[in-house]
Formats: sequence, structure tokens, C-alpha cells
Amino acid sequence: MKLGVLTGGGDCPGLNAVIRAIVRRAVRDRGDEVVGFLAGWDGVVEDRGVPLDVEATRGILPRGGTILGTSRTTAELLTEGLPQALETTRRRELDCLIVIGGDGTLGAAHAFSQLGGTVVGIPKTIDNDVAGTEHTFGFNTAVQIATDLIDRLHTTAESHDRVMVVEVMGRHVGHVAVHAGLAGGAAATLIPEEPFDIAEVCERLVRRHERGRWASIVVVAEGARPAPGTLEVPDPELDVWGRPRVGGIGALLADEIADRTGFETRVTVLGHVQRGGTPTAYDRVLCSRFGVAAVDAAHDGFDDHMVALRGDRMSVIPLTDVVGQEKSVTPDLWDAARTFFA
Ligand code: F6P
Repeated sequence: MKLGVLTGGGDCPGLNAVIRAIVRRAVRDRGDEVVGFLAGWDGVVEDRGVPLDVEATRGILPRGGTILGTSRTTAELLTEGLPQALETTRRRELDCLIVIGGDGTLGAAHAFSQLGGTVVGIPKTIDNDVAGTEHTFGFNTAVQIATDLIDRLHTTAESHDRVMVVEVMGRHVGHVAVHAGLAGGAAATLIPEEPFDIAEVCERLVRRHERGRWASIVVVAEGARPAPGTLEVPDPELDVWGRPRVGGIGALLADEIADRTGFETRVTVLGHVQRGGTPTAYDRVLCSRFGVAAVDAAHDGFDDHMVALRGDRMSVIPLTDVVGQEKSVTPDLWDAARTFFA
């Protein structure tokens, strides 16, 4: 077979591990040819492809980022580009395009398939919000990075008896926040799925300090918002992709906590360090399994499908069950997290 590969959307640790796994399975086990497209869907539209073989992908397993580069796009933004992308895959006689990305990139993959292209998707994003798979790759690494940094904030918070507000990524869902908050012993975690009441958060922090506990960590997902009528938050501007510009909730929260409680408060925005650097062992394994499963799915004749982790198994599910569905934090996980709040 002739396979194409692209990495789209925000980068995350493990992209290179997936590319390596695809190449190993395709070239070594199946005798395929693999073309990597540069800069996500843009590279297919503009036919910027490079041959990928075992030599070209040697040594990249632990390397963060993506050797192919990436770009953000959606099916809506790609309307004119998709026929050109189809033209590229036909001209190159590709049998299948393996699309590694989150909801936007996979949405474009679904639209591409509707046009007549053949695609198999692989779920990527530190946010872990792609439906149909237990985990996306990159999530475990982001949680580990955030947890390590929260551990560091604990010691300085205790030295100064401060409240530390830690803003983590997660524009629509709070998976990173809940997991890192649980693993890092946060006194409170605020997520987009559960609008918060600032008065209640402050009361809990005061009660904790009254019990003689020094210092508190408050983890907030960048997309978390207050319950209506509880705190004024300016409407976000839109970025170039028409997405609300999230971020800044941590600073706002820190000011509000300091005003209401009188506790000395600091904010740390973890930002893109959560997406950088080497993947954890868990993510390296997951990426390797995803890459192998995607090549096998292409050989089994799947189109408009995505490989997914279901329980402990790799499966292949229709993109129609994935695209536009957001995977939120489950009530039982949220309930467990709340048990440890102050
Ligand atoms: O890919 C998802 C994500 O990590 C979100 O949590 C975050 O809001 C966004 O990417 C930031 O992306 P960028 O700054 O790269 O556009």
C-alpha cells in the first residue's frame, strides 16, 4: 500500500512516537511506502510530502513535537482545500491517509472521506477530550508535567503560607486539571464542566487555614468559568481560528481570592510547557500501539474510522461517533476529586 501521514492541530508529546510506529509497521512488516505531509492538512493541500522510511524516523521515539510540523484547521476552514487535498492523494496514488489529530483535524478527515478520500484517524491531544477512546496520547504526559510542577509549587507555597493558583490547559474540558489536581493534592480544582462559585471556593480556603493548614493549591482549567451571577468575567476575544481566547482565568481568580480572603496569593500559568518535551513511558506505549493499529486498519480496508483505546484493547470506531462529540470529565471522577477538596 501507499500511505500518507499528517499531524494536525496543537502539538503534543508522542506525535513522533506515532509517526515512528506507523513507519515501522508499514515499511518493515507490510512492505508499504509512506509519505509524510508537512504542516498538517496544509501540506496535503499544497502537496508538500516527504518520503518516510525507518532511517528517517530513527531516534525520534522520545522526542517532543512533530518532525512533520503541524497547523490548525477544521473542515469549515478547509472547504476549498479539501478537493485539492484529494487531488494530491490521487496524484500520489495513496491508498489511505493516516490523520493524527484532535477534533478539528479529525473533523477535516471525516469531510475528506465524504469527498471520496480514504482516511484512518489517530486521537491526539493533551486535553483528552476526543470521544470514543479512553485516552488520547499526550494526555498522560501533560498530567505528569502539571503534577511535577504542582509538587514544586507546594514547597514554595508552604514556605510563604500562600495560596497558589495554577492555571492548566483545557479549554472545553477539565481532564488535565482534575487528574493533576488529584495527583498534586489540590485544595480545589475548577473545570469548565462545573461552573464555580468564588464565594464557596474562598470559604473552603479560609476553613482550611483555620484548621491550621498552611498554604493551598488551587488548580484551574483555562476554560473554567464562574456560575452565572457570581463573578464578572470579561467576554473573551476570538483568535484567528474563531475560538474564544481562553487563559487569564488564573490571574483573575488569584486577585479575587486575595481580595476576599486576605491571603497572599500567586498565580502560575503552566501554558505550553504541558505540550513540550518527551512523552511519558505510558504515552510512548500508547502511541506505538496507535500507530501499529492505524496501519493495520488501513490494510483491513477501513475508511472514515479512528483507532481507539477501549478498555485495554485497540479498536477501530467510525469517525461519525467521534467528530463533534466532546468527552467530558465523568461524574464519578469529579466526585472522587471533590473528596480531597479543602
Ligand atoms: O490542543 C488543545 C490545547 O492544548 C488547549 O488546551 C489550549 O487551549 C490550546 O491547545 C492552545 O493552543 P495554541 O496556543 O497552540 O493555539
